[in-house]
This record gives sequence, structure tokens and C-alpha cells, in this order.
Amino acid sequence: MIQQIEQYLEEVQNFNATDLKDVEAFRIKFLGKKGILNQLFSEFKNVPNNEKKLFGQKINQLKQTATEKVQSLKENLENSLEEQGSQLDLTRPGYPVEIGSRHPISIVKNQIIDIFKNIGFNVSEGPEIEDDWHNFTALNLPEYHPARDMQDTFFLQQNPDWLLRTHTSSVQTRYMEAHQPPIRTISPGRVYRNEDISARSHCIFHQVEGLYIDKGVSFADLKQTLLYFTKEMFGKSKIRLRPSYFPFTEPSAEVDIYWGLETETDKRITKGTGWLEIMGAGMVDPNVLKNMNIDPEEYTGFAFGMGIERIAMLLYQIPDIRMFYENDLRFLNQFKPII
Ligand code: PHE
Repeated sequence: MIQQIEQYLEEVQNFNATDLKDVEAFRIKFLGKKGILNQLFSEFKNVPNNEKKLFGQKINQLKQTATEKVQSLKENLENSLEEQGSQLDLTRPGYPVEIGSRHPISIVKNQIIDIFKNIGFNVSEGPEIEDDWHNFTALNLPEYHPARDMQDTFFLQQNPDWLLRTHTSSVQTRYMEAHQPPIRTISPGRVYRNEDISARSHCIFHQVEGLYIDKGVSFADLKQTLLYFTKEMFGKSKIRLRPSYFPFTEPSAEVDIYWGLETETDKRITKGTGWLEIMGAGMVDPNVLKNMNIDPEEYTGFAFGMGIERIAMLLYQIPDIRMFYENDLRFLNQFKPII
């Protein structure tokens, strides 16, 4: 019996392995549940009393040696695997990381937001499905008012009081309902009009509208704000305001910037005049303030609204508005940031 254990001891001491799998097999053979050591332990009771002490010592020695062997072989093998790992070619270039791009509408929208944020405007948003009150009636466009035809509207069949908002002025009415002046807010968002789709117009597009209401706000403040905006956005410092009509502003104006006539494109987009219309604006009509429970004797304000697509088409020389919605990667990839 003792001899047998001595043999095992020798086997354990001489064991070597180059593979973790062999070490595991060795562990199971000696130290596993049905392994040699457990068998030896179970025979302990049959050993004559006078041999018990030596037998005990021997199997303990065998157990310890086997355990240490397994441990040291494992460590060695794992270390050498790590060393192999460090011999990888660390100078090999990595796989390229694909960087996405922002949509040009978002790029321009964010630029506009930043410019107005700098002079204290916050950003407000509202629902795209609107009711008649917020999109029309509250804005001094009562039912059957002919100016409703200025914006062809998509109505929801289920409920004719619901429609797809035709401008984000609807957000401004919601904002005025919820806040008393001073108000300084811009409302970016998607709008819908029942228009034929062509290179120049689409039934879905985006706007940013602005609203400023406080005591003593004048038309001069509007002009100065628009001038600041066109300088920041386009680097152009000549604007003109043409009299116009919107039901919710009085007086109203169409804002043109002097784009110049330097290139052929300038000539084409300004139709040879050098001037380019970029937005509508005006002083908030007292009727709108009244509808919103804001006292027009105490407060005045201005509002303006512009289409984002039109501005993006100008800045990036995009010839067809439909390109914004086609998600053609050849188009979108051109707006990847340069890094
Ligand atoms: N809401 C107008 C439109 O959609 C734009 C506008 C806003 C005009 C504010 C004047 C004042 O065309």
C-alpha cells in the first residue's frame, strides 16, 4: 500500500504538461471526486492500526504535492499564453471607426438655435398634430378667414378639429398660454402643408420661429435682432424689410438679405437682384396677445419665422429639396465632420 503511494508520488513529481487540458486531466485523475486521493482516503479505515500514522502522512504528502503541481503548472502555462499575447503586432493599424453624420437640417437647426441662445432665447417644442385653436384661431385666423388659404392644411379625417401643424407658430401660442412675459423663445420643428412636391417645395419641411414679448419691445428691436442673426448665420450685414401681411403680426414684413451678385449661383438664386428672401416677421398683433390673456396695453412683442430647408439649400448649394428626405448615403456622407 505504502509502496503504491510512493509510486503515485513519483508520478506526480515527474508530471509535466504543455497544455492546460492535460493539467486538468491530471487534476481530475488525482484530486477529482472519484480520483486516486479520495480512493486512498476511503481505504484508510482498512489500514491496520500500526500503519495508520505512516499511511496518513503519505497520502497527505501526495495530496499536497499534487495540489501544488496543478497550481504551478497552471500558472506557468497561463503566463506563457500572456507572453505570446504581448508578441502581437501592436503597430498594426486598427479597424477604421465609422463616424456618422448629422443631417444637414439638424446642422442648420442647431446653428440657428445657438445664435438665438446667445441672446437669451430658450427653445420650446410642441405637438405636430395640432388643434385648430393653437394653429389658427388663437393666431388671429378665425374660421373662414381667407388667410387660412395661405397655408394649405392637412386635416385629420377622424376629427376635423385636428390638423398637422402648418407652422410652429402653434408652439408659440402654447408657450404664451403657459408663460407670462417676458418671453423669449424659439420653436424649431417639422411642419406640414398640402403642397405639390417639386424641387423647390415639399409637403413636409422644417421651421424655426421666434417670439419676443416684453414691455416696450419695438420694431427697432426686431430689426436689430434680425440683423444680428443674418450677420452670425450668413456673415452678411445688409438686410431689408418689405411690407407684407400675416394675420398674426401687424405690421408685417418679409425679410431679405443682400446675398451679392459675385458668382453665377448668386445670380441664379437671387434671380439677378442680389436680394434673397429668408423669412417672415412682424410685431405680434394685439389680438393675438388678447387671445393669450396678455395685456396689449402693457406688453408688445415681435415674431419671426423661417424655413430651415431653404437656408440649408442656400448654405450648402443643394439644388433639390427632395434630397433632404431621400436618405441617400452619397448625399448624407457629404456632411460628415472633418476630423
Ligand atoms: N408663421 C409664418 C409662416 O409659417 C411665419 C411668420 C412667423 C411670419 C412669425 C411672421 C411672424 O409662414
